[in-house]
Amino acid sequence: MARRSLVAGCGSYLPARVMTNAELAKTVDTTDEWIVQRTGIRERRIAAEGEYTSDLAVKAADAALSMAGMVADEIDLIVCATSTPDETFPATATRIQTQLGMTRGAAFDVQAVCSGFVYGLAVADNFIRAGQANTALVIGAETFSRILDWQDRSTCVLFGDGAGAVVLQGVESNGGSKARGVLSTHIYSDGRHHDALYVDGGPSTTGTAGHLRMDGREVFRHAVVRMAEAIDTALEANGLTPGDIDWLVPHQANLRIIEAMARRLNLPSDRVVVTVDRHANTSAASIPLALCQAVHDKRIQQGDLILMEAMGGGFTWGSALLRW
Ligand code: UT7
Repeated sequence: MARRSLVAGCGSYLPARVMTNAELAKTVDTTDEWIVQRTGIRERRIAAEGEYTSDLAVKAADAALSMAGMVADEIDLIVCATSTPDETFPATATRIQTQLGMTRGAAFDVQAVCSGFVYGLAVADNFIRAGQANTALVIGAETFSRILDWQDRSTCVLFGDGAGAVVLQGVESNGGSKARGVLSTHIYSDGRHHDALYVDGGPSTTGTAGHLRMDGREVFRHAVVRMAEAIDTALEANGLTPGDIDWLVPHQANLRIIEAMARRLNLPSDRVVVTVDRHANTSAASIPLALCQAVHDKRIQQGDLILMEAMGGGFTWGSALLRW
């Protein structure tokens, strides 16, 4: 018997305001046609003035706790994956902790940009496996609209705001790939690729929050190769093959990247959860948002094998396998 992390609940939240491609085309030199063809994105959500990353996160966390039938004080650990924290410090996770009314345990942030949820899941899963926590909230929450250069058409059309969360609970398991829970997580980084995707500001450099800068073509090229490697490693580590996967729940950056991953796994499109058309790229929030969508519309059923993969600034990348 071994300890494993079961997903006891998931929840998500999107800000009310929808921004369409047509609306963006009024302010930058772009078209709905270009954005849809190159990315699959049709619209994104934008947080309201005064609505912060922690506010989105709390709503997602509340929904996840309610699905799990748990209250915040039963949680030992909050890991919030975000690159758009409310403040430089303290961690957004501690704000979430207070707003949830939780006065025990520990809360901290994880920074791995678009791979943040896979990183957060890896951290929390390892705490649970090691026995240092029995329950954890893993949250991906972002307000990327606040760090976009709204004059730069090559980046401002790509991102959106949102949050998703899962509640993990430690269970005793026979450890096999048929048993429910997180089967494995694999995370990687290579800091040599800093210049391909970064924010040109920060407390120690400019003293400002800065704006997102990206060489999209370079990120695209690496994303396809690195995520494919991480998927192969995940399957191999569990003695599984692509044919065993029921659902691909990928990071939602670009429909072309998602389709390339699905083709490589020989997965039909109805086994791939796609939200990039309505959410755009919500960075660390994109995987839990997509996961919740497919759980709540009942596509994902108990016992299904879910593959998650992501790639982001750093570069960071990784994969996770989960038996629902
Ligand atoms: O989540 C983190 C990971 N991020 C990603 O995975 C993003 C990966 N990259 C991508 O998704 C794609 O590279 C983009 C969607 C960012 C760009 O698509 P692309 O097919 O790689 O286009 P490109 O960068 O090669 O640009 C093609 C053309 C350029 O014009 P020229 O140089 O060919 O004349 C751009 O200036 O499209 C132009 N362009 C635009 N045109 C209209 C760039 N942005 C826009 C725009 N509207 N918004």
